[in-house]
Amino acid sequence: MSLDLISAARPDTAIILGSGLGSVAGALGVEAEVPFAEVPGLGASTVPGHAGRLVLCRLTGRAVLVAQGRRHLYEGLSAYEAAAGIRFMHGLGVRRVVLTNAAGAINAGFEVGGLMLITDHLNLQGTSPLLGGPHFHDMSEVYSRSWRERFQQAASGLGLKLHEGVYAALLGPQYETPAEIRMLRTLGADAVGMSTVPEAIQARALGMEVAGLSMLTNWAAGLKPQTLDHREVVAVGRQASQDLARLLKTALAS
Ligand code: HPA
Repeated sequence: MSLDLISAARPDTAIILGSGLGSVAGALGVEAEVPFAEVPGLGASTVPGHAGRLVLCRLTGRAVLVAQGRRHLYEGLSAYEAAAGIRFMHGLGVRRVVLTNAAGAINAGFEVGGLMLITDHLNLQGTSPLLGGPHFHDMSEVYSRSWRERFQQAASGLGLKLHEGVYAALLGPQYETPAEIRMLRTLGADAVGMSTVPEAIQARALGMEVAGLSMLTNWAAGLKPQTLDHREVVAVGRQASQDLARLLKTALAS
């Protein structure tokens, strides 16, 4: 029933919310919601901190489809399966998508609890949602430059610091070693996570406009005297998700 409501609303914009960021949907005004398990081809997320729901929100009159949680390669899925939500959204008429995630900060100029606008990515997951075809899509501007400008304008209007940088995606599910983080820094990564890249590649291959936002929930391994814990990642994500909600509301309202 709600799935019919969602498709009847014909959303052209979607947001995928990462670990601990699910509450952002509530701040956007929920009209209808459906568990992933009831959406053909999606299936429930197995990760704590991911509700696994599709939510229809309304932002200044515009229907926005919000995925609370996502599916990851480390759950044992192929990249094609992990990007199923994007193909589903495209089928509904969605043509632009904001991909959010929780990430470890590598760039020393960042701070925990801050936000990073993704300018580009390093696909270090060893796979692609496009395996088997279609082939050879251009990836020279995965994260839309004009949309990035819009997010920066929205952030400065809100007095919010929005870092920019390169997101490196690893397979997981374990966190990185300090040696891996040193390698990623050498490769030009500013933040590290385990998601987003399969969806970004799939969305670009379908001709969708993509933006990416990382919530910097922790320092990457070895950068500070600490150990990493998913519960802390989710807790920091929850605390800082108000900033993310304000940013999304402002940037998508125009
Ligand atoms: N590494 C990988 N994924 C993550 C991290 C991290 O430090 N923090 C949140 N997601």
